[in-house]
Amino acid sequence: MALTRAAIVELDHRHVWHPYTQHDEWVTKEPLVVASAEGIWLTDEDGQRWMDGSGSWWVSNLGHGYPRVREALHAQLDKAAHVMFGGATHAPAATLAARLASVAPPGLTRTFFSDNGSTAVEVAIRVAYESWQQRGETARRRFVTLEGAYHGDTLGTVSLGSIAAFRHRLDGLLFDVLSIPAGDGATGTGWESEMVDALAAMLAARGHEVAAVVVEPLILGASGMRMYSAATLRRMYELAKEAGALFIADEVFVGLGRTGTLFACEQAGITPDLLCLSKGLTAGSLPFAVTLATEELFDAFRGERPRMFHYGHSYCGNPLGCAAALATLDAFAEDGILEHAALRAEQMRRTTADWRQWPGVAEVRQTGLVLAVQLAEGSDYTDPVGWRIAKAAAARQLLIRPLGNVLYLVPALTITEHELYDMLERFGSAIQSPL
Ligand SMILES: Cc1ncc(COP(=O)(O)O)c(C=O)c1O
Repeated sequence: MALTRAAIVELDHRHVWHPYTQHDEWVTKEPLVVASAEGIWLTDEDGQRWMDGSGSWWVSNLGHGYPRVREALHAQLDKAAHVMFGGATHAPAATLAARLASVAPPGLTRTFFSDNGSTAVEVAIRVAYESWQQRGETARRRFVTLEGAYHGDTLGTVSLGSIAAFRHRLDGLLFDVLSIPAGDGATGTGWESEMVDALAAMLAARGHEVAAVVVEPLILGASGMRMYSAATLRRMYELAKEAGALFIADEVFVGLGRTGTLFACEQAGITPDLLCLSKGLTAGSLPFAVTLATEELFDAFRGERPRMFHYGHSYCGNPLGCAAALATLDAFAEDGILEHAALRAEQMRRTTADWRQWPGVAEVRQTGLVLAVQLAEGSDYTDPVGWRIAKAAAARQLLIRPLGNVLYLVPALTITEHELYDMLERFGSAIQSPL
């Protein structure tokens, strides 16, 4: 028998531990209880329709339940849901790896499979670090990251990140990185050249110790949707290469069309040594991830048996995930997703053109279909100021999650013209009349 809404909430309150949630607050609120999801719409247990303004934590690039993806999952489920990927292979994984090699920046010919964005980055830093050890360059042990970076929640990826709230009880467990100032909280673009200069100075002094420079291309997501240009991305890549270091592109958020191209690195015309994808790769249907690598890095692990990469998860190469990812790539190839998203991005830019003049707004910025509104008051991640607007948005059936004083929309790339006007209207009016 189906559970009532109240029964679901009761069981949740009694037994569930939610991510990034203070349960003392959670139990005092009426939660959104989702019954179904389609396109940009979530329908709750009371039959009310909500707009998914953050693409369900940035995964739903094609909207919920994209038909191709749904069909591919059904078809694969009838064949095999999962088989171990050590000692066996299968058509979905082999086909997906070949497809990724053909669409990714040229030279990324190898795919390592894992389960989520954090593991995609964990794999990248392990491959980078171990590849130097395998090649006898044992001094290259440091990672360079950008201030405010977010690369995931495993201990390795938290070590790369620098959002204080996510690290503050982990002293002693994390490894040190070389962190580059990246205009934390700044508006405008002046901070970009300061960031590049700081990276150049760091690499001039300590480049010989660096295993890899790790970046979120074009948008530092979790630390406040801080956007920088393709020229800056390219310059950072060039500096890493001049220092003989590897370059890791964490495209977990920005990949799969989010910034206007299939991969953000395309806009800078670069091929990183390692590129991480997850979130949009299965169009929000399954937890799944890949780390793409060059043949040169793959070769560093060849030879005697102990040189192999000692890493793997139970669900590596999951056939359902592979089938969903292939269907997602088919959608980009055949359904005009990027062309449609470009029109919507232009519509978003036009509609929000005067928002920066609104009282209380410090900056409005946009890259592809990511819109960020930075408030004049408040500060970073832990600042509650944005929640007043999220509450006002919820009163308009728009689901958003603030990043401190930054409010953002990450809609499905498939959003219709009418839906986007509607979403911007709800978002804008929540910003103007916070609760
Ligand atoms: C750039 C980036 N890397 C890695 C991750 C971690 O992904 P996951 O939450 O799937 O572990 C995220 C998640 O938001 C991200 O934005």
